[in-house]
Amino acid sequence: NDYVPNNLTTISSKFSNSNKQLVFEAKEAFERMATDALEQGYTIRAISAYRSYDYQKGLYDSYVKKDGIELADSYSARPGFSEHQTGLALDIFSPTSSMQNFHETEEYKWLQNNSYKYGFILRYPKDKTDETLYQYEPWHYRYVGIKITTYIKKHNISFEEYYVKHIEK
Ligand code: DAL
Ligand code: ZN
Repeated sequence: NDYVPNNLTTISSKFSNSNKQLVFEAKEAFERMATDALEQGYTIRAISAYRSYDYQKGLYDSYVKKDGIELADSYSARPGFSEHQTGLALDIFSPTSSMQNFHETEEYKWLQNNSYKYGFILRYPKDKTDETLYQYEPWHYRYVGIKITTYIKKHNISFEEYYVKHIEK
């Protein structure tokens, strides 16, 4: 509950909304990705990144209040269970669209084709909800490094499958 990652670093304001943080390696990779995207005409920004236990608790509790536990659990991690607390995950949006329409943007397409080159995976894809147990989240990316993203993309597997087969041995 009191875990705070080392090396939290603020993402450049060019690519994020007000003081969003990731661990250094993920922050560097995200800024490289956002810079290259911009050069090719796509604007991506971080709308949420590191979230503390207490912040996640506030979010989750508000979702439960609004939608009930069952629905809230399908799209929000409980406090202590969000990968946002690791400082390796972030929500990406494009200023030209709403979060709900993000999957229809050119930026989303660009990320689908390119994020693996920078070490980021779309963490909760549409065709893997049986494994992730979360609803499709077109905006939520996780930094896992290039070696793992390359493997995951090649085999079209979820991070859960990768984890079970290669990490949790
Ligand atoms: N929305 C994701 C699952 C989280 O709350 O971490
Ligand atoms: Zn997220």
